[in-house]
Amino acid sequence: MQPYKPFPEVRHPTMVQTALGHSERGGLAANDSEAVSNGGPPPIQHRARTYQAFPGAQYILPCDEEEQARLELQHRVLQRAIGGRLVIPPLTLQPGDHVLDCGTGSGIWLLDLASQESPDIVFRGIDIESRLFPVVKPPNVTFSVGTTTQLPAEWDNQFKLVNQRLLIAALTSSEWPRVLKEVRRTLVSGGWVQLLEAKRWGAEDGQWSAKHRKLLNELFAAKRLVIDCSVQLPHFLKEAGFGNVHVEEYRIPAGSWAGTVGIETRDNFIGVFRGMKTPILNAGGFGYVTTEDEYDQWMTNMAEEWDTMEGTTVDICVCFAQKMSQE
Ligand SMILES: C[S@@+](CC[C@H](N)C(=O)[O-])C[C@H]1O[C@@H](n2cnc3c(N)ncnc32)[C@H](O)[C@@H]1O
Repeated sequence: MQPYKPFPEVRHPTMVQTALGHSERGGLAANDSEAVSNGGPPPIQHRARTYQAFPGAQYILPCDEEEQARLELQHRVLQRAIGGRLVIPPLTLQPGDHVLDCGTGSGIWLLDLASQESPDIVFRGIDIESRLFPVVKPPNVTFSVGTTTQLPAEWDNQFKLVNQRLLIAALTSSEWPRVLKEVRRTLVSGGWVQLLEAKRWGAEDGQWSAKHRKLLNELFAAKRLVIDCSVQLPHFLKEAGFGNVHVEEYRIPAGSWAGTVGIETRDNFIGVFRGMKTPILNAGGFGYVTTEDEYDQWMTNMAEEWDTMEGTTVDICVCFAQKMSQE
């Protein structure tokens, strides 16, 4: 485990402007209606945020303005933790190269990279949800709606680098292997994939954090999501045919005990957990929560726990691997 080292040169990218309107869908997230109609416990009444409705997708975080702001903060937190590197593998992009960002969200990683690289590199972002796509972008950056589980057929052997960051709350155990095969198919021979995922979070001995870890285990299991995907990635990568598999781990201090860095980390990740409120309450609370207020107060208590329990961290994992041959 590499200790967290502050990186002084991290840039603070300007806010990405997206096409988000103010209309909220509210109620059940589209893919949650399945849990309710299967005869599970009744949903808990609450004010729901806006969620994706891509057919079959299990993704459990919202896609509204609040989430857009959180993704900006998250980019800053993560980039600082990994030393400001946007490209992790040993690779120098050249004019004419193509780069793909799977599950691009607001496209902040892609736009940040495009601003540093040649305008003759082609940058593509794909996501199941277009609400967060930026409206202002350079001509060599394009965004499209689609799933990383089935990338367009015409993208065979095209990309020098594929980035995929934080799909832990999106991909099921059967989807992870498929996604990595798809990514490999779209890479040129010698091209690289880089993945970043959360590994562990919260106060080691905190009551609110401990209970929350149990709740998330239930939620992820109910959605067939892989909560320990970071640990499984090297195996998934090798199974998908990748070589040269590398893993880096980082510990990011979380909570006000660690100053601004800790406050930003806390706000981002507690923001993630607040965003999971609707799937949790729609599933009836998994026996851990019975009202919206109770859930909200839990998140506040957990944030305070992170503030007061020195040593609280969020641990992340970066993996990168290479497509060694064409087939
Ligand atoms: C936590 S956000 C991270 C966004 C971006 N990668 C970043 O790091 O800023 C996860 C994103 O993955 C997208 N997503 C979820 N499931 C997906 C899938 N099967 N294919 C493509 N995108 C997906 C979500 O819509 C969301 O924008």
